[in-house]
Amino acid sequence: MRVSRLMLVTQRDVPAEAEIVSHQLLVRGGYIRRVTSGIYAYMPLMWRVLRKIKAIVEEEMDNAGALQTLLPQLHPSELWERSGRWQSYTAGEGIMFHLMDRQKRSLGLGPTHEEVITKIADEQIHSYKQLPVNIYQIQTKFRDEIRPRFGLMRSREFIMKDSYSFHSNEKDLGKTYKSMEVTYKRIFARCGLETVAVDADSGAIGGSASQEFMVTADAGEDLILTSKDGLYAANQEKAVSIPKEAILHNPSESKTISTPNQNSILELCSTNNLEPSQIVKVIIMIAILEEQVEQPLLLSIRGDQEINEVKVINFVAETINKQVIKLDQVNDEEKNRLKLDHIPFGFLGPDLKDNVLENISGWQKQFLRVTDHSAASLDCFVCGANVKDKHRIGMSWEKLGELTNKADIRKAQKGESCVHDPTMKLEERHGIEIGHIFQLGRKYSKSLQATFTNEQGQEEAFWMGCYGLGITRLAQAAIEQHHDEHGICWPLPIAPFEAVIVVINMKEPIQEEISGNIYKAMLAKGIDVLLDDRSERAGVKFKDADLIGIPWRIVVGRDAANGKVEIVQRVSRETLLVDSEQAIQRILQEKLSK
Ligand SMILES: Nc1ncnc2c1ncn2[C@@H]1O[C@H](COP(=O)(O)OP(=O)(O)O)[C@@H](O)[C@H]1O
Ligand SMILES: [Mg+2]
Repeated sequence: MRVSRLMLVTQRDVPAEAEIVSHQLLVRGGYIRRVTSGIYAYMPLMWRVLRKIKAIVEEEMDNAGALQTLLPQLHPSELWERSGRWQSYTAGEGIMFHLMDRQKRSLGLGPTHEEVITKIADEQIHSYKQLPVNIYQIQTKFRDEIRPRFGLMRSREFIMKDSYSFHSNEKDLGKTYKSMEVTYKRIFARCGLETVAVDADSGAIGGSASQEFMVTADAGEDLILTSKDGLYAANQEKAVSIPKEAILHNPSESKTISTPNQNSILELCSTNNLEPSQIVKVIIMIAILEEQVEQPLLLSIRGDQEINEVKVINFVAETINKQVIKLDQVNDEEKNRLKLDHIPFGFLGPDLKDNVLENISGWQKQFLRVTDHSAASLDCFVCGANVKDKHRIGMSWEKLGELTNKADIRKAQKGESCVHDPTMKLEERHGIEIGHIFQLGRKYSKSLQATFTNEQGQEEAFWMGCYGLGITRLAQAAIEQHHDEHGICWPLPIAPFEAVIVVINMKEPIQEEISGNIYKAMLAKGIDVLLDDRSERAGVKFKDADLIGIPWRIVVGRDAANGKVEIVQRVSRETLLVDSEQAIQRILQEKLSK
């Protein structure tokens, strides 16, 4: 391709709309154009990158025995109602775009495809003999994200590879899950990405085991906790750890003390010479369930620890067997609106009575009480007295009455001991999630009644797995990992072009002729090459080539008359003066080694 025909429009200034470097470089290099919030056009250079990533993904998925299909993007609401997800995906903060057709039937634009594929599997697969199958597609997904940001990282329309596997038993599901893990690792390695596989929360998709593949980068929205020995890696949403030992609290007697205005752990500790780990902190949160049911939660946790909201959501969903749409804090505005003056916030104890809920409109009339292990394991502690300006010291769970639920609802933090080896401390890194694999089990096949006939001749629900990979996010994450102050440094296998020939002076016939010859020779060898034939200054051409990140540059200048050209590697900036044939060989060599 000749650069004069490429519609190349680069910009030097950092675009105001872009916060992180990968987003800035995509805009500056002319790769993407924003159409509206979270919605982008992929320009010709971008499309070439995406096609290369897709080709790698297709090759690896095909090799793993998966079957490519293309499923519809418009989904009837009725299907999502059957799986129980229509409400939570469309109401409130739900992320599904939805619409009404001319017959007033409601449809949703697919954010994910479990429902559609499960329906089809049910209709097409009747016998265990047809199993297992793994079906995949690469296409646009729609999600009305609450906070679209960072360009292609979190957009509202993006390209995903998603696959769904169907099995006659759990063991077989485990095998495909493992093979997808291997496939994903191969895909990311081929794309030149360094990734970490972490234990992950299964979230709204449901199911049991799940792993995320993270590109480590400071701009990542996810926090991951890892152990130095590499044996433990988890998303903070899911991570477990052993908290630091609590400081012993052992006053001579248990009594109520006056703590005027000491409604925070910090104030309470500094005024009364206490340590946060000696306190049981009690928090009220509201779980919003299906049909707008508002369930108040009374959460107790050690004073130096923080609540992990994802763990709370999962605990609530499992305990009362209902979907949790979201978790709300009770902020000042809510306190005013609901007239909660009678609840002594800041002075609560785990034994706060349900009768405080009596006149609160909208809330269920009984707390769901959960005590984190960090608090449950304290023998003697300080807690609020359920009266304004009063706390109790020397308290114990026995004195408070029996605990109802104990669970892990604590946020694991860096520096804490690992569960698999307490001598090892957790380390923290940021990551960008580019792939996510799940063992769904029978959640969807049961709710959608998708069954097959097993070996014993009985009808049984399928065992399912699902495997997502963000194609557009992967492309941008690659830039986050591979760039320098001059621009993008694409890994060769996903670069839009592998090499660019820069002609120093287009007016020199010899330079023009030689560059033309090299261009043709490279094309004939299958190299994706650009010829920068513009009548711009060489400096401008170099800057553009660096910005858009072409891995190899061949400079045809004064030495061309002697058969010599300069070959420059983008990432290392290593420059060699060689015969043009050698330059071609060098690029071919790298290409074939990938
Ligand atoms: N809004 C988005 N923009 C770009 N890529 C996304 C977006 N949401 C998800 N992806 C990509 O699709 C993959 C599978 O998505 P999934 O795990 O279902 O999403 P989530 O983790 O947001 O629930 C993710 O690993 C990510 O690479
Ligand atoms: Mg995910």
